[in-house]
Amino acid sequence: MSQIDLRTRMERVLYSEEAIARRVRELAHEISEDYRSRGFAADAKARPILLVCILRGALVFLADLARQMTIPVEYDLISVSSYGNGTAPGAVRLVKDLERPIEGRDVLIVEDIIDTGYTIEYLRRNLASRDPASVRVCTLVDKGARREIETRVDYIGFELAEDAFVVGYGMDYAELYRNLPFIGVLKREHVG
Ligand code: IMP
Repeated sequence: MSQIDLRTRMERVLYSEEAIARRVRELAHEISEDYRSRGFAADAKARPILLVCILRGALVFLADLARQMTIPVEYDLISVSSYGNGTAPGAVRLVKDLERPIEGRDVLIVEDIIDTGYTIEYLRRNLASRDPASVRVCTLVDKGARREIETRVDYIGFELAEDAFVVGYGMDYAELYRNLPFIGVLKREHVG
């Protein structure tokens, strides 16, 4: 299946490749300035902030964000999964943990999209319990109107007000579409 086929399955493009690149650059500068002004990662000898990438959706975003940041960063990867039907709503479990301890570190969780908020809140609490110096959250897309639990989000790329399921730029539907360079809404016939 070629990428051309996947593009034809889009009802519309929400954020173009250029719009994403522009916003990611702005976000990276905002975050870098923010951490720099708080005295973190002031030089290469200071312990850099640790970007925590939530697999697999945030992989593409993290790769672009990290390369636009103007302070030193390290990154590590974590993976979670939602329990299926029949369990408590929003139940999340850890599938792959970080490689290294985060005690004393300034941690920035990097997520692709926040919907109900259960995933990010689970991760924030889980990482906060390991005694880091700080934990902040950055998401490329925020579906704030769909939130079911309160969770703090420090950096947001795009606020998505409508109730749309989006794919591309790392985000999938049934594991497809992650490699599309833009973010779009699938045609109805390709969902479900
Ligand atoms: P939450 O726990 O409901 O906030 O869900 C967050 C997770 O659901 C994200 O990490 C995504 O993997 C997935 N997700 C939510 N909305 C979308 C979407 O529109 N497209 C693709 N994945 C989504």
